[in-house]
Amino acid sequence: MRRCLGAMLLSTALASASASASAGEARIDPMQPDLQDKASLQRGMKFFIDNCQSCHSLEYQRYSRSAEDLQLTREAMQERGLLPPGGEFHGPMRSLIPAEQAADWLGVAPPDLTFTARRRGSDWLYAFLDGFYRQGGPDGAVDNLVLPGVAMPPVLESMQGVQRRMCADGRAYDPDADDADACRRLQVVEAGSMTPEAFDRGIRDVSNFLGYVAEPSRLQAHRLAPKVLAFLAVFAFIAYLLKREYWRDID
Ligand code: HEC
Repeated sequence: MRRCLGAMLLSTALASASASASAGEARIDPMQPDLQDKASLQRGMKFFIDNCQSCHSLEYQRYSRSAEDLQLTREAMQERGLLPPGGEFHGPMRSLIPAEQAADWLGVAPPDLTFTARRRGSDWLYAFLDGFYRQGGPDGAVDNLVLPGVAMPPVLESMQGVQRRMCADGRAYDPDADDADACRRLQVVEAGSMTPEAFDRGIRDVSNFLGYVAEPSRLQAHRLAPKVLAFLAVFAFIAYLLKREYWRDID
């Protein structure tokens, strides 16, 4: 009986949480970076190479550094397609299309993303990648909820599906008539090649990976932390023994 009640309370809480999420402002679920999750970081690196690296460089990150930190051998990198053709193992993760060429084509040079997550945060990246939508039909103008007016094409749309921007009352957003702040919910109106769950995991993983790239030293700090704590514990014990030794005669 009690378990029943617990389940009921839990499902009510979940229902109200999802109701408030869908009725709420922007659909920006929090994204918690997890540098300990090596599988996520590895998937994120693959997602980056497959979907972002054609345009964006990680000029200050070497493939070999990623391999070491994500616990992958050179062979594993090659097998998993983590070392694209032309990429040198000890070289930087450079974009496949040179920046000038991309600028000619897109009007703006795609920025280097090595430190973007440090400036913006992994959760911002996640919301940005989730935030592309179209005005009107499938061929309508593209914009982004998080970075309005961004010149990046909606490169993930075939995977995510076409999104429309909706107002709180369920109408599609009309930029000429509606208050932008009241219309911050995005809805997939035409399915993409991925399920929403798979897509969500993909953009979480790549945001996690870019968070790691922005501060690889943090991963190292995580790795060192247990050793530092163990050292401090041993040191404290020795200090305690010494103190006892010194104070014995004085007492
Ligand atoms: C077809 C080329 C192309 C691809 C592929 C691409 N981008 Fe972009 N991206 C751009 C361009 C161009 C801009 C600059 C837009 C501007 O300044 O308005 C941009 C801007 C960005 C920004 C904004 C940076 C800032 O701080 O203002 C982020 C973040 C970003 N891209 C991430 C990604 C990620 C992650 C992927 C892969 C999922 C990706 N991009 C794939 C072309 C691309």
